[in-house]
Amino acid sequence: MPPEQAAAIDAALDANHHDPTRLVVVLQDVQHRLGYVPPAAVRPIAKALGLSRAEVHGVITFYHDLRTEPGGLHTLRVCQAESCQAAGGAPVWEHVEAVTGTAIGGTTADGSLTTEVVYCLGLCAVSPAALFDERPVGRLTAAAVDRLVVSAREQRGDGHGEVAS
Ligand code: FES
Repeated sequence: MPPEQAAAIDAALDANHHDPTRLVVVLQDVQHRLGYVPPAAVRPIAKALGLSRAEVHGVITFYHDLRTEPGGLHTLRVCQAESCQAAGGAPVWEHVEAVTGTAIGGTTADGSLTTEVVYCLGLCAVSPAALFDERPVGRLTAAAVDRLVVSAREQRGDGHGEVAS
């Protein structure tokens, strides 16, 4: 295991006092530090928390927010809950897939953008809604998606994408 991964796992375990009841938080912490939860993390986390590897693996596969491989440098989280459906989100989501060249949940070939589905961002008043990195995007349109995808490509790695209105 690369040293940075081992260090991230140790730090996440220490921050959570090696408490097995905080397994989900430990995994989220690892993902926050590394961008994903490497499959090689399962064994040391299970050992440190006194859990089986199956238990740790089960939690990773249950929580869709946890990734087991690196994502893109930017993330577009598209809400597909009721209000955003009712506001005509479906064609926009289809456009997201067309313009990124991957189903929602995938990463563009250049690694600039990962898309994810979420269910209600608390932005129902401006449905259909999304989050670009951590920034809310309301009334998402195909044109706004185009701008975000271009922004992700142009600003790879700097964490600053254009926010559509
Ligand atoms: S249903 Fe999409 S933000 Fe609430």
